[in-house]
Amino acid sequence: MKAAVVGAGLMGSGIAQTCAQAGFEVVNIDTFPSAIDKAKANLEALFARKVTKGSMTEEKKEEILGRLTYSGSFEDVKGAAIVIEAVPEKIEIKKDTFRKVDEAADADTLIVSNTSGLSISEIASVTNRPDKVMGVHFFYPAPVMKLVELVRGLVTSNETYEKVKEFAGQIGKTTVDAPEYPGFMVNRILVPMQNEAAFMVMEGSRPEDVDNAMKLGCNHPMGPIELTDFVGIDTMLATMTGLYNGFHDSKYRPCPLLETMVKAGHLGKKTGQGFYKYDEKGNKIS
Ligand code: CAA
Repeated sequence: MKAAVVGAGLMGSGIAQTCAQAGFEVVNIDTFPSAIDKAKANLEALFARKVTKGSMTEEKKEEILGRLTYSGSFEDVKGAAIVIEAVPEKIEIKKDTFRKVDEAADADTLIVSNTSGLSISEIASVTNRPDKVMGVHFFYPAPVMKLVELVRGLVTSNETYEKVKEFAGQIGKTTVDAPEYPGFMVNRILVPMQNEAAFMVMEGSRPEDVDNAMKLGCNHPMGPIELTDFVGIDTMLATMTGLYNGFHDSKYRPCPLLETMVKAGHLGKKTGQGFYKYDEKGNKIS
């Protein structure tokens, strides 16, 4: 079965990898050639590490890579049973992508969005198949995290929901049904915690103290500051801003330090500078 993933950034490339590992023929589409080059290089480096570590054989690596192709054209969604959109978290970019995918895809193709909080009903409204659109929210890193949130729009059909749930199972994910409100379920709980941690750093706490507090005091695998650098400060700020604008509630006010860091281009691990500094291999150096 063929799946198409639109967007080859951190999330899109990880989702494409997840589907290819599960046995799907996958095309990962991005109109920016540099995004495709980066996605390919990152995947090759990740798989090379797995082979060296012994958690993947050379044959398995070749088999998975053989199922994964890259393209710069929306026309390549043709023949896909499902299209997963993972483009930047801006409503106009999402709508533009859905219009193009809707035009190019087969009539019975399901189109799902990996949005972390935008309205599925609004995204679906620009297509001619709103009943075949819903949200499937993955977590970073997509190949590792076991959960996906399923989010139905106002007119998502039962048939679409059942088929998408089955697809999530086929790629090895456990699902929860999340409401169509900003932040869905996980981010509504998680991101305000990360935002509060950023406020504490702004007030003078050391990032490593805030992280150790949550790692050692609550057994979190990563501290909230480290996690913000890991997923991208821009992504986290966009989600927090979505909560603030969506609920019109000051309890979701984004931390100004995050806004300043984004303006400065300090986006976390992916740019080498966030709350911490990283070398070109992504290892924390200070
Ligand atoms: N992409 C793909 N695979 C990755 C990866 C990445 N970025 N990082 C690690 N992995 C894989 C490794 O290859 C390794 O696989 P093998 O066992 O097959 O070799 C496996 O994950 C474990 O990696 P490590 O041993 O290097 O690292 P670890 O045991 O310290 O685990 C972690 C790393 C899974 C990321 C762990 O630290 C963790 O669970 N962190 C919390 C992540 C989290 O909270 N994610 C949610 C973010 S919020 C979000 O995503 C919402 C949103 O809308 C943005």
